[in-house]
Amino acid sequence: MKLANEHILVTGGAAGIGAALVLDAAQEGASVSFCDINVEGGRAYEKELLAKGLSVFFTQADVSNFDNVSSAHAKMVEKFGAVTGVANNAGVNAYFDPVTMTDEEWNSFFGVDLKSVWHTAKCVLPAMRAAQKGAIVNIASIHARMTFPGYFPYAAAKSGVIGLTRNLALDEGKYGIRVNAVSPGYTLTPLLQSWFEQEPAQQAAAMKVQPLGRMAQTSEIAKVVTFLLSADASFVNGADWIVDGGLHARFA
Ligand SMILES: NC(=O)c1ccc[n+]([C@@H]2O[C@H](COP(=O)([O-])OP(=O)(O)OC[C@H]3O[C@@H](n4cnc5c(N)ncnc54)[C@H](O)[C@@H]3O)[C@@H](O)[C@H]2O)c1
Repeated sequence: MKLANEHILVTGGAAGIGAALVLDAAQEGASVSFCDINVEGGRAYEKELLAKGLSVFFTQADVSNFDNVSSAHAKMVEKFGAVTGVANNAGVNAYFDPVTMTDEEWNSFFGVDLKSVWHTAKCVLPAMRAAQKGAIVNIASIHARMTFPGYFPYAAAKSGVIGLTRNLALDEGKYGIRVNAVSPGYTLTPLLQSWFEQEPAQQAAAMKVQPLGRMAQTSEIAKVVTFLLSADASFVNGADWIVDGGLHARFA
């Protein structure tokens, strides 16, 4: 029970990696609050986990909107008390053309994939500072280091997540709060499936270069995040852990 007595907040917890984070943290003894824009999916998942005897709470929030995040956070605190750990997971892909992308699209995308990390931090840090304890894990991506053509400006947002992780790690360390990033490689989720549907040739090409001959299960990302949220990782701070089966070690 790595997370006994903890209250973990997971964003984008209704599906994919986020759903695995909710499950793993709850199985490790935490009370887990999660938010999502997918209300139906979030409620169904909450029901499923409650039926298993796990301590979970779902509420709607669009992480790009601070007022949404703030009111969801208030409900979570009312349910389980102060948040002691956060997994900033909600994110979307981007496939824009730099010429035709509009200001609105730019702001909307960066609101979800980058600004959201600041939104949750703004909500949870006061109580964490007061408690002199806390852990935040931000889901970045291997795209922060190397990316694909046609993915504009996803790599920029995910690089920003790692930069924000370093800023927060240095500034909050004095309060006993650790902030780290996890950069997954190919992970079998609805997001990845939708990309493969758009680019079928990429699926076979991606499989061919996997050093372990397969892509990650969501639970394999969740285990790393749970570790980083737990006291077992008490001296890990400001790090970006690549969890990509070795893909980043490959030149071509
Ligand atoms: N799947 C991969 O291969 C992969 C690899 C590297 C990084 N990532 C990152 O991991 C994270 C999770 O990805 P995934 O593959 O599980 O995606 P997914 O699309 O399968 O699930 C994402 C969840 O976030 C929710 N969400 C989207 N926008 C939201 C918003 N504005 N507010 C609240 N919730 C929102 C969705 O409804 C969904 O439930 C993302 O940040 C993604 O960039 C994924």
